[in-house]
Amino acid sequence: MNDKIELVQLQLQKLRQQIEQYNYQYYVLDDPRIPDAEYDRLFRELQQVEQEYPQLVTSASPTQRVGSTPLKAFSQVKHEIPMLSLGNAFDEAEVEAFDRRVCEGLSVDTVEYAVEPKFDGLAVSLCYENGFFKTGATRGDGHTGEDITLNLRTIKSIPLNLTAKNVPSLLEVRGEVLMLKADFLKLNQRQRDKGEKEFANPRNAAAGSLRQLDSAVTATRPLSFFAYGVGRAEDGQNGQIPKDKHSDVMAYLVALHFPVAKECQVVTGLHALLAHYQKIGAMRVDLPYDIDGVVYKVNSLSQQEKLGFVSRAPRFALAHKYPAQEAMTKVLDIDVQVGRTGALTPVARLEPVFVGGVTVTNATLHNSDEVKRKDVRIGDTVIVHRAGDVIPKVISVVLAQRPAQTQSFEMPTQCPVCGARAVRLEGETVARCSGGLFCPAQRKQAIIHFVSRRALDIDGLGDKLVEQLVDNAIVRTPADLYKLGIAALMNLERLAEKSVSNLLAAIEKSKQTTLARFIYALGIRNVGESTAKALALHYGSLDRLMVADIENLQLVPDVGPIVAQSIVSFFDEPHNREVIEQMRLSGIVWQEHEGKSMPMTVETAISGKTFVLTGTLPTMSREDAKQEIENQGGKVTGSVSKKTDYVVVGDEPGSKYDKALNLGVTILDEAGLQALLQ
Ligand code: IVH
Repeated sequence: MNDKIELVQLQLQKLRQQIEQYNYQYYVLDDPRIPDAEYDRLFRELQQVEQEYPQLVTSASPTQRVGSTPLKAFSQVKHEIPMLSLGNAFDEAEVEAFDRRVCEGLSVDTVEYAVEPKFDGLAVSLCYENGFFKTGATRGDGHTGEDITLNLRTIKSIPLNLTAKNVPSLLEVRGEVLMLKADFLKLNQRQRDKGEKEFANPRNAAAGSLRQLDSAVTATRPLSFFAYGVGRAEDGQNGQIPKDKHSDVMAYLVALHFPVAKECQVVTGLHALLAHYQKIGAMRVDLPYDIDGVVYKVNSLSQQEKLGFVSRAPRFALAHKYPAQEAMTKVLDIDVQVGRTGALTPVARLEPVFVGGVTVTNATLHNSDEVKRKDVRIGDTVIVHRAGDVIPKVISVVLAQRPAQTQSFEMPTQCPVCGARAVRLEGETVARCSGGLFCPAQRKQAIIHFVSRRALDIDGLGDKLVEQLVDNAIVRTPADLYKLGIAALMNLERLAEKSVSNLLAAIEKSKQTTLARFIYALGIRNVGESTAKALALHYGSLDRLMVADIENLQLVPDVGPIVAQSIVSFFDEPHNREVIEQMRLSGIVWQEHEGKSMPMTVETAISGKTFVLTGTLPTMSREDAKQEIENQGGKVTGSVSKKTDYVVVGDEPGSKYDKALNLGVTILDEAGLQALLQ
């Protein structure tokens, strides 16, 4: 019988080791080595054996990560070595002063520092006794925290027992619990699906998850841990805790299988600190987790000791903060903007607020579903987020500060500029103005598109001038451009005689064009440059294109039912036909039967780059986005790999987004893509 038990013990030990090794590969190294199904099979096998031999279950078994009974309250844990805070620096002068103090304190000219991301999560302490995870606690007031051992045990990247040969008798690992951005998005999607409240940001989600009295709830929340140092430490008989440098301690933690940020580095001197700050700052939006700064630590532990502490913060370390990416402000108004294709985008006008390094006065609310979901109202106090060069957006409403008698915002049923009906097609997230080129807003955008470099290429007709021309009712349609004379232009502000004659010459020159450019210039929805080229090639004449029906159009390469429908609708509109007729009368000509001659080789930020699209973009259809990218010589593929240059992410993105985060591929939203396209 004893032999049998011994065999089972061995079997259990092997299963537990295998499972923890896979956990490590998956959660710490981010490098899963076996399919999920195989992991599940091993886990079930372990559960079955443990059920048969309950006396052999130990708390370090991976089956015991989730506790069975909720706590009544958290008990208190005293931190033998206080968990301190860090001094902050907000500009380079403060960093310089810090480095000077450090050099003076050590009587040296230059100092070696370890630099690390400053995680935007929650500080925790993990105590290991003889290699076993015994107690985990929050920072609390720095001296006493709360015992959250059961919750921390559910985090799979936290080892339950240390498997290295020389485990110390006591090791207190300190670090941060946080939620990865990708996990946060997935969690919020899950909350939405269940009709439950969403979390405002990954930090709140992590905090809320860690503060659960029932660890079974915590176990359903995707939390991560990153180690950044050691508190109490005793080698005992076998331990080999490094005593010289902080960077050695970190390497030691890596060897013990603790997750440590990849971005940690050792540098020497003030300039290297500032360069690292810039480098991490540039990577910030693409990091898998939120950071609010970088931390500089004197690397030598004896130098750290020599420098000591002031009140609650060490003299040997400093947090250099980045501009906050979130700020609170008031919604003064909600406007609705009209794009070229008539897309109506609600935009919050804000009391100016400094966020993400700039003063923000507008933030997009994307579309009516989004406004409804967030219930943003005029007068509300909201949290605004701006990261990198991305358009600022409203994250959530601070309901506690909502004034009395606010009204929920309704998207207009009419275009706010021209009054035409706003229609929302099935399957689309945006409503569009149905006014077409009657709508001054769409008209302006249509003319800006018509004269753009890759369309009829009219030099000297910038956005501002187009606005003036439309606002003064001098130009209503692209055809009117060909009726412009010196007199009308000279009356406009800030237009010198020379510019007027240059402009008229450019307009005249544009009359000699190609069929493909002309089709593209019309701005038909879903018809980008390469579709225009294909249409020109296929039909060889505008007249033939104008009478083509939906079936016939689909014979053209790359034209599907949606594009075909857009083309038919465009030419069905009498106004559009009239504008085209007027342009012909004014002498615009193109060589029919061409199409091949359209230059496509202009170098842009897009050409040669590989893109992946995921999720619903706020205003562009995927088809549009793909078309525009291809027009500029980019490639759109279906799956993310190391070779992908950009992943464009919309609402409710799929696993491609996670993969992009994992591989560190640059992520863009629609605004970012638009910026590249321009
Ligand atoms: S070291 C004695 N390193 O920042 C130094 N802290 O203001 C103790 N934090 O709540 C902290 N990332 O949780 C250190 N790489 C990092 C950090 C970090 C984030 C947090 C920490 C603490 C706060 C200190």
